Amino acid sequence: MTIFYVPTKSHIIPNKKTNHGVTINMLQRTIDKTPHFCGNEESIEAVDLKYYLQDGVTIFSKTNDTINGILNFNVNVHKMMIKGLCVSVRNKRKGSPSDPRIGSSLLREAKRFAKRNNLSEIHLTCYGDVFQFYEKHGFIVQRKSALSVDSDDSFGSPKQSYFMVHQVSQSALSHSFSKKNSAAKRVTKFFKKKLGHNKTSKSSKR
Ligand SMILES: CC(C)(COP(=O)(O)OP(=O)(O)OC[C@H]1O[C@@H](n2cnc3c(N)ncnc32)[C@H](O)[C@@H]1OP(=O)(O)O)[C@@H](O)C(=O)NCCC(=O)NCCS
Repeated sequence: MTIFYVPTKSHIIPNKKTNHGVTINMLQRTIDKTPHFCGNEESIEAVDLKYYLQDGVTIFSKTNDTINGILNFNVNVHKMMIKGLCVSVRNKRKGSPSDPRIGSSLLREAKRFAKRNNLSEIHLTCYGDVFQFYEKHGFIVQRKSALSVDSDDSFGSPKQSYFMVHQVSQSALSHSFSKKNSAAKRVTKFFKKKLGHNKTSKSSKR
């Protein structure tokens, strides 16, 4: 599986990740052609994903010649707002060699984009249990609220909506902090070793 961007002029994207052969139109046709591209559509409907693609930045995943995941987001000053994320391949046994984890790969790429473009936060709103997927990727539920059931959906129960946030700069800082920390540890270790070595060489001279 490979992750690509639909070309965009307004942001920093590595050249090798930009796919000039795939257009938004093609992605919209893929959503139409693929049954259940957005699963049971509890959190997002395929028709909405198609609509979101008209705007913002779009990342997609491809295995051989098949497009099997799409993530779309907007950028507003220093914030990324994820509008839609859907994959066409799910329900593989987790941890098996055939487990593609497409959703996670697309989300990780969105995080890399945020760092590269100096964004400080990633926001999103989702519905139902999928909030757990985002929690696994370091998002925190900032607000939740119960949505009323559609009047024509007599079998449904009230859906919970989750407004979630991921702090980009914080994770970048903690990453560099841990790097610094380990560099500091290496320096301390080096001097300790050197001192220890000198002590033993002095004592052996006596
Ligand atoms: C949500 C979605 C994009 C995740 O993609 P995916 O490729 O299936 O997810 P991954 O395989 O990368 O899963 C990573 C982890 O999240 C968990 N996870 C995935 N989807 C989940 C869901 N709907 N609810 C709870 N947990 C979920 C997985 O079980 C896995 O957990 P593990 O690491 O403990 O094994 C995909 O299931 C999907 O398209 N869902 C329908 C559309 C949708 O709800 N989109 C999000 C709202 S915009």
